Amino acid sequence: MNSLTTTLEQLKKSFHLALEKASDADQIEEIRIAFLGRNGHIAAIMDQLKELSLEDKRSFGPLVNEFKTMAQDALNNKKSRLEHEVITQKLQTFKDFDVSAYTSHIPGSLHVYTHLIRKIQDIFISMGYQEAQGPEVETDYYNFGALNIPDNHPARDTHDTFWLTTPGLLMRTHTSTVQIRTMENSQPPIAIFAPGRTFRNEATDATHDFQFMQVEGFLIDTDISISHLLATVQVFLQEVFERKDLNIRVLPDFFPFVEPGLQISAQCPFCSSGCSICKKTGWIEIMGAGMVHPNVLKATGIDPEKYSGFAFGFGLARLAMIKYGIHDIRLLNSTQIEVLEQLG
Ligand code: FA5
Repeated sequence: MNSLTTTLEQLKKSFHLALEKASDADQIEEIRIAFLGRNGHIAAIMDQLKELSLEDKRSFGPLVNEFKTMAQDALNNKKSRLEHEVITQKLQTFKDFDVSAYTSHIPGSLHVYTHLIRKIQDIFISMGYQEAQGPEVETDYYNFGALNIPDNHPARDTHDTFWLTTPGLLMRTHTSTVQIRTMENSQPPIAIFAPGRTFRNEATDATHDFQFMQVEGFLIDTDISISHLLATVQVFLQEVFERKDLNIRVLPDFFPFVEPGLQISAQCPFCSSGCSICKKTGWIEIMGAGMVHPNVLKATGIDPEKYSGFAFGFGLARLAMIKYGIHDIRLLNSTQIEVLEQLG
């Protein structure tokens, strides 16, 4: 019993000595294994306990356990002290790094889409319009049916649709869905613009993407005529392109949800007599438009005998390409840093 007591005292001393000398996590682990490991010093003493009388076991056992707990705590404390020292040392090497010094060059910039959307918001809000949003996952009804495009209507073929696995659900192919959702929940006068993502299951090229932004605009009130539409579109395009003398061209077109339907082009802002951007025509097609079809008003609970309205929808990318001289629509969704730096 006496010799075990002496051994325990010596162990304590050598433990403290070793711990004091340890200067990194590896050395601490070595000490832990030497003293607390399965074949370590404390396990060896525990083994010798078996030889003692019951009474000696009762008085010596707790001493060994006490040492074991103390050793574990001391190892843990030293380990976290060393870790703290390492972090402090690392921080010392950074101490001259002053983040507030980086004021002259802020990396990153706004994407041209963001610039353009902000400009469009300013223009429409200054004309008294309100912004609206709609879901990107839509039902057949909002994307087609309520827009006077019933089942089997050939106009559905012009919208290459991403159908979802849930029957009747799709990724919206245009922002005209927002016309229906807004009109259902409000009564005229209504003046709305609605920018948003749209999706079409088609092959991409320089002017077509499978995911692109559209902006819908529409106004419903009493005595609204096509001249209100043309004046609104002309002012809008003049403001976007910052050209007060910009002319527009209007041609007939067909969209089931408007009557008459129009295709509106802007005079090419880059040339006066034809260039490669306007394909030598002097005009660039910007949007589909027209007077809201009475069936659409009826579907949303608005009386077509009392109210009329106009609507238009344009591709934001088309506008961005013209305004900023971007030759390929796919660059607008690029995540390459070299491209983004040029688009900022
Ligand atoms: C429509 O989507 C109609 N909803 C527009 C409309 C609204 C007409 C209100 C009448 C009244 P269209 O499919 O032509 O029409 O698309 C409108 C614009 O979206 C196009 O002029 C073009 O700028 C853009 N666009 C269409 N398809 C793509 C595509 N794959 N990639 C990029 N832009 C596209």
